[in-house]
Amino acid sequence: MPPSPAAPVRVLFLCLGNICRSPMAEGVFRHAVERVGLADAIAIDSAGCGPWHIGSPPDQRAQAAARKRGYDLSKQRARQIEAHDLDGFDFVLAMDRSNLTRIESLGTGRAECRLFLEFADGANADEVPDPYYGGGDGFEYALDLIEAASDGLLTHIRKTRLQD
Ligand code: 4NP
Repeated sequence: MPPSPAAPVRVLFLCLGNICRSPMAEGVFRHAVERVGLADAIAIDSAGCGPWHIGSPPDQRAQAAARKRGYDLSKQRARQIEAHDLDGFDFVLAMDRSNLTRIESLGTGRAECRLFLEFADGANADEVPDPYYGGGDGFEYALDLIEAASDGLLTHIRKTRLQD
């Protein structure tokens, strides 16, 4: 039998509702991973802290802002994080500190739980502000931060988890 491929590195992006920031992060990071041919090596998902939007596609404003930059979010559907995600994923990356607090309330697991913007070299923010109640600029700013962190995250995973 041929050797089975190594298990993928699993990344979960987390925000409050899973209809704005974490779906954008999922779409941007998936695009970056596919561009370098690592789609089989890195598995990507997103979730929200709350249940309000379970089953819904991303917010239309998030989809439109992402589409302008070449990211298709249309097939994503919102879900709520569950305690077993903390064991099922290698990284759970939170958009803001309140998301991290929510993770702590679920317990512990083997996942590395961090703020996503820790990977954004040179960004002068450590949280992605929630654009849900604001204007269109908030989505553009969130995407700027997410793109910066996405590149840093991919470099980190290649260096520390993959021998590609
Ligand atoms: P997200 O934005 O956490 O970036 O998905 C939000 C979306 C919906 C709500 C809050 C934040 N909400 O309260 O419904």
